[in-house]
Amino acid sequence: MNIDQIFKNNEAWVNEKLGTDPDYFKNLSEGQNPDVLYIGCSDSRVTAEEIMGAKPGEAFVMRNIANMVSNLDLSAMSVVNYAVSHLKVSHIIVCGHYGCGGVKAAMQSQDLGILNPWLRNIRDVYRLHNQELNQLKTEEEKYRRLVELNVQEQCVNVIKTADVQIAYRNRNLTVHGWVMDMETGKLIDLKIDFDKVLKGIMEIYHLD
Ligand code: CO
Repeated sequence: MNIDQIFKNNEAWVNEKLGTDPDYFKNLSEGQNPDVLYIGCSDSRVTAEEIMGAKPGEAFVMRNIANMVSNLDLSAMSVVNYAVSHLKVSHIIVCGHYGCGGVKAAMQSQDLGILNPWLRNIRDVYRLHNQELNQLKTEEEKYRRLVELNVQEQCVNVIKTADVQIAYRNRNLTVHGWVMDMETGKLIDLKIDFDKVLKGIMEIYHLD
């Protein structure tokens, strides 16, 4: 991408917005009230707002390699805390995608330097679901399933946080696990049964 072009694009976007609503930026600058926290992959092809049709102000977004929610990641924990306890979002979405380079890398025996500790979280997901994954015949099937299971485990990591547990008890908050299929462009709801998942983990992880 040409940097000069980016500024031209920005100017065109500003003019387009002002063309339909002269107060667009005045209103936008008054504050945000998003209903959705979106946690997705940094992959340049899985653009959070565009795939959801979300406008500025509608989605609070965090993206990192392989849509991870690590309790040692100060950024992720701060994003969840702010979105749940201050912005009071009603939905938390963890959205993975087939063809995820981070998940692929975690399936390979390779020293990737600084990426090792990050990707090890995905290897841990593999180990947790080793039995199921090893029953699958092809590497491609394992790869796709690991993308889904990684989304599920990151949803579980979201539920492990105190902010989400408090919100779960006191108001409407739903956690969603999705996968974006790049070959079709479609979002797939994994329909994770959170009541069941919660029962299984709350004995260990409940904080209050
Ligand atoms: Co990815």
